[in-house]
Amino acid sequence: MANQAIKTIGVLTSGGDAPGMNAAIRAVVRAGIGAGFRVKGIQRGYSGLLNEEILDMNSRSVADVIQKGGTILYTARCLEFVEPDVQERAADICKKHGIDGLVVIGGDGSYRGALALARHGIKVVGVPGTIDLDINCTDYTIGFDTAVNTAMEAIDKIRDTSTSHERCSVIEVMGRHAGYIALWCGIANGAENILIPETYDNDEQAIVNQIVEDRKRGKRHHIIINAEGIGHSTSMARRIEAATGIETRASILGYMQRGGKPTCKDRVYASIMGAKAVELLAEGKYNRLVCHQHGEFTDIDMEEGLAMTKKLPKNEYQISQVLAK
Ligand code: ADP
Ligand code: F6P
Repeated sequence: MANQAIKTIGVLTSGGDAPGMNAAIRAVVRAGIGAGFRVKGIQRGYSGLLNEEILDMNSRSVADVIQKGGTILYTARCLEFVEPDVQERAADICKKHGIDGLVVIGGDGSYRGALALARHGIKVVGVPGTIDLDINCTDYTIGFDTAVNTAMEAIDKIRDTSTSHERCSVIEVMGRHAGYIALWCGIANGAENILIPETYDNDEQAIVNQIVEDRKRGKRHHIIINAEGIGHSTSMARRIEAATGIETRASILGYMQRGGKPTCKDRVYASIMGAKAVELLAEGKYNRLVCHQHGEFTDIDMEEGLAMTKKLPKNEYQISQVLAK
């Protein structure tokens, strides 16, 4: 039986899209209906909320979406949402549409927006959706698994041609300020160097020396995975080619990492997390973040979760260094 205080829940996606968001939306809609709520879909994140782009959802609204990348509700970055009067207006719009509970699927920025709505009486629950894995209170975010698999396959292909031409490749992957995608691809693709904001010391000369040494040891290519948070891959490739005399090319993988069919893991985890968000609202628990910690799906107070810090696993980085020899 649904919590008496909540009759209608809304769901929106916000920030960068991530494969698996549709599975989460589907779970919120179907679990919500199952719990006795009316469910409304808000299009285009907080921008759509301000424009009252709000749709009634039923089970059929989310048919045939679990396998699709992107988000059927569309997403947006709404810069004006940091302003207190805009947040108050958004909460009033929720109330006007009878939305007393809201599931926000997105990252840290989206949760800050959700907290602002919470201060105006909307009962919010966050679900972690970002390919970057950069949400501190959870060791899983929707879309990361698909993104790293997509990037891994692309890097395999670049590696083939890099080897044929005996070149060096600088391959830039997404991740905003975090190096998780780079670290995972670096290990999965057997990269010689992984440059991530958390550890990179800007010692390009050391990389140049290593490339020259590796060539002498018989390595036929050299893969450098460069995180977006470091960037400048094209100029880096030019400098490396000038210093080593070895042909060097840069490839920036870009938005392909955010699209495509979600992996099985992203579909399943997103489904569980979407359903858990509804369960929390139905139990009268709100201003919570659904997360995955130590192998279990759990939840945490939203402010507490936002205040947490997360360290890149040192061990994983060290292992990547040993295996690249
Ligand atoms: P993510 O949710 O993936 O971290 P963003 O940082 O782009 O992505 O945030 C998504 C949206 O959340 C922003 O466009 C804005 O509408 C809202 N948002 C971000 N930061 C804040 C904030 N400090 N206060 C209120 N809303 C915010
Ligand atoms: O947060 C996901 C992400 O793809 C980051 O990796 C990247 O820095 C950013 O979004 C790009 O955002 P936009 O779509 O606004 O260019």
